[in-house]
Amino acid sequence: MQRENLDKLNRKFEYLRISVTDKCNFRCKYCMPKENFGRDYQFLRRDELLTFEEIIRSVKIFQSAGLKKIRLTGGEPLLRKNVEKLVEGISSCSHIHKIAMTTNGSLFDKEVAHKLKESGLNEITISLDSLSEITRKSLNSSNINHSKVMNAIDLAIQHFGFVKINMVVVRGINDSDIINMIDNFKDSRIQLRFIEYMDVGETNNWNKKRVMTSDEIIKTIKQKYSLIQMTQEENATAEKWKFTDNTAELAFISSISKPFCSTCVRGRLSADGKFYTCLFSTEGYDFREILRNEQNDEKILTFFKSFWGERDDRYSELRYFDRNNKNKRNKIEMSYIGG
Ligand code: GTP
Ligand code: 5AD
Ligand code: SF4
Ligand code: SF4
Repeated sequence: MQRENLDKLNRKFEYLRISVTDKCNFRCKYCMPKENFGRDYQFLRRDELLTFEEIIRSVKIFQSAGLKKIRLTGGEPLLRKNVEKLVEGISSCSHIHKIAMTTNGSLFDKEVAHKLKESGLNEITISLDSLSEITRKSLNSSNINHSKVMNAIDLAIQHFGFVKINMVVVRGINDSDIINMIDNFKDSRIQLRFIEYMDVGETNNWNKKRVMTSDEIIKTIKQKYSLIQMTQEENATAEKWKFTDNTAELAFISSISKPFCSTCVRGRLSADGKFYTCLFSTEGYDFREILRNEQNDEKILTFFKSFWGERDDRYSELRYFDRNNKNKRNKIEMSYIGG
C-alpha cells in the first residue's frame, strides 16, 4: 500500500485552491483596496498564467498524492475566458470528488451557470457582504448593479440546488447587516457563512479592532434566533450551526479567534503556477517552471512530495498566541494567492 503523504504536522494533502486569475472587477477594501490596486497596478501577463492544460496536468499529478477536492478562485475566476473548459478537464480526473468555485457573482448569468453545471462544477460560493447597496458598494468598491449579484444567487440555486454565501464581517462597516442577511437568506438551499476579517496580504490595513469574532456574531444572532451547533465536518474551514426549526444552516469561519491549522489539508496554486503550502506563505514553489521543463510526471510528483513532507505552516495559530506580533512577515496578496 502507498504510504500516506503527510506533512511535518501529520496533515494530508486533499484540497487544492486554484487561482485562475489575479484580476478582479471588484476592489474590496479587505482584499484589493483601490488605493493599491489602481490603473497602474501590474497584473500577471497572459504568458505568465498557467494554461488550462498545465493546470489539468498538475491536478492529475496531485491526485496520486491524495488530492480529492478543488476550489477555483481568483481574483474573480469568471474573468478567465472559457473557465468551464478547465472545469471539464478537471472533472475527468477520477479521484476528484468535488469541484467548487468562489465568485463575486457579478458575471454569473444564466448562460454561465448552465455551462459550469454542464462541465461538472459541483458547488458555487458567492461573496456578498451586505444587502444594502450603499454598504456593499463602500466595502466592495464596485459599480456592479446589486441586483446582478442577487440574481446570481437565485441562478446558483436553480442550477446547483444549493449555494454558499460568504459574508466577511468588518466591525463598524457591515456588522449591522448580520440579522438582515439572515432574515433574507434563511433557506435550506442556502448556507450563509460569516467570515472573520483576516490579516491577509500587506495592503488591506487590517486592524484587530475591526474583527468581529464568530462568538460575537453568534451572540448577536441569538438575540433573535435560536441556534444549535452541528457536528464539525472533517478538515473544514467552517463551524456549522443550524436554526432549531431546521429551516437553514449557518457557518462561521474563525481564522482569527479559533484557528484551524491543525486540520489544514489545503494547498494553493497561484495563477502563475506557484504552489503555496499556506494562505500566509511568503514564498511559493515554482510549479510552472517544472511543468514547462519536465516531461516526466513522476519527477514532478517527487518534487511535490519533497516539499509537502517539509510543510509545518500554522500561521493562524502562531498569530493567535503571538501577542507581540513577533511572527510578522511579508504576506502575499489574497487576490493573487486565491484566498
Ligand atoms: P469549503 O470548505 O469548500 O466550503 O470552502 P472554503 O471555506 O475553504 O472556501 P471559501 O473560498 O468559501 O473561503 C471562505 C473563507 O475561508 C475565505 O475567507 C478564505 O480565505 C478562508 N480560508 C479558506 N481556506 C483557508 C485556510 O486554509 N486558512 C485560512 N486561514 N483561511 C482559509
Ligand atoms: N478576510 C476574510 N475573508 C476574505 N476574503 C477576501 N479577503 C478576505 C479577508 N481579508 C474572502 C472573500 C471571498 C473568499 C475567497 O475570501 O470574501 O468570499
Ligand atoms: Fe475581488 Fe473577491 Fe478580492 Fe473582492 S474579495 S476584490 S471580489 S477577489
Ligand atoms: Fe492552513 Fe495556513 Fe490557514 Fe493555518 S493559516 S489553516 S496552515 S492555510
